[in-house]
Amino acid sequence: MDILEPCYAYQDSRLVKEAGLYPYFHTLSSSDGPVVTVEGRRAVMLGSNNYLGLTHHPEVLQAAHAALDRYGTGCTGSRFLNGNLELHETLEQELAEFTGKEATLVFSSGFLANLGTLGLLGGVEGAVIFSATENHASLIDGARMARCRRVRMFDGIDDLERQLSQTPSWSNTLVVTDGVFSMTGRVVDLRALVELKRRYGFRLYLDDAHGFGVLGPQGRGTAASQGVADEVDLLFATFSKSLASLGGFVAGEQPVIEYLRHKVRTLIFSAALPPASAAAALAALRVMRRDTSLFVRLWENVEFFRKGVEKFGYQTLGTSTPIVPLFIGSETLAFLMCREALDMGVFTTPAIYPAVPMGHALIRTSVTPSHTREHLETALEVLGALARRHPIPKEDPSKLPHAREMDIVTTLQRWAMEQQQASS
Ligand SMILES: Cc1ncc(COP(=O)(O)O)c(C=O)c1O
Repeated sequence: MDILEPCYAYQDSRLVKEAGLYPYFHTLSSSDGPVVTVEGRRAVMLGSNNYLGLTHHPEVLQAAHAALDRYGTGCTGSRFLNGNLELHETLEQELAEFTGKEATLVFSSGFLANLGTLGLLGGVEGAVIFSATENHASLIDGARMARCRRVRMFDGIDDLERQLSQTPSWSNTLVVTDGVFSMTGRVVDLRALVELKRRYGFRLYLDDAHGFGVLGPQGRGTAASQGVADEVDLLFATFSKSLASLGGFVAGEQPVIEYLRHKVRTLIFSAALPPASAAAALAALRVMRRDTSLFVRLWENVEFFRKGVEKFGYQTLGTSTPIVPLFIGSETLAFLMCREALDMGVFTTPAIYPAVPMGHALIRTSVTPSHTREHLETALEVLGALARRHPIPKEDPSKLPHAREMDIVTTLQRWAMEQQQASS
């Protein structure tokens, strides 16, 4: 078979575009944070991960400008050889202090950090990786990249315990989990996980992309919010969400970080985080540590918005984070509602299989401190109108079975056939 055959055969995006439901790669021509211009019209942005609204904070902007002036636009090489800036090191020191870990290592993206770190650690002779089924793609791919012969998935703490109980000691093992799952906003019970860690002796890798800068005192993250930060062996977080930039870091014991610094291929063989991005992340970290009013506004907004959508009958899966999922069930309906929301001035994103179980599609929304009451009221008006117009499920989603196939695919194939028949 021609190696490019799958590309030529690929039809899904064309079908979705022709149906007018395509929800990806929307072209933004401007943004002020809570409001964006998309496809020529302004929309309230409920589809970002800008959890502290810092992408347009004056101090963050100013720091990025100053770094551009001082260092130029790029490092043009890896930190290992020629692109290691004072800024990267200051960022690492302040992150170590903030997270309470001995050392940290800054990468050019969160994906590269997870991929490289798990790829390396999972390659240790006899290693086992337990990865939560809802984990981010970078964790899944990192474990795969390690060619770790024993990657095991677990679906919740009970399932992990059941699997662990088969052997008394798991000292050669890394348990890897997100702190907050990115689509549903579900927070992991890290206390229960740490209980298992004490019993079975594994190491714990926490991806706190969506908890860092959101949960716990000053946004120290999911583990800090549950009082178990010291039990996390390796803490990962990205700069591309609360810290309003690009890049990511891994924090842990000094010898572990020193080893990673010299061995992780995605760090050594990839250009360093650009100066403006490093400076923006550092400035955002400082603002976050200082300005407690950000968290007050964030949680007030989350509360207001969540209660508002629940009044319309949306199921929000018990979220306690700025991620407010609206359970829709049908993928086709989620795509249609996102399209209509955008046409009415609200930017949201659908989440379908494999990001969520089949038949459990969501509209993912998220709220930031920089949304005004007016922004949120506009968004609620639109989501209220959509809830009245469409049959959104009112049952508890956890009681609903998973589907056997992706309904968006079958619906569109049927639709394409009908189109074809009508035109012939
Ligand atoms: C849970 C999780 N981990 C890792 C990443 C990767 O982070 P980055 O955007 O910095 O590549 C993301 C980003 O989507 C994420 O949601």
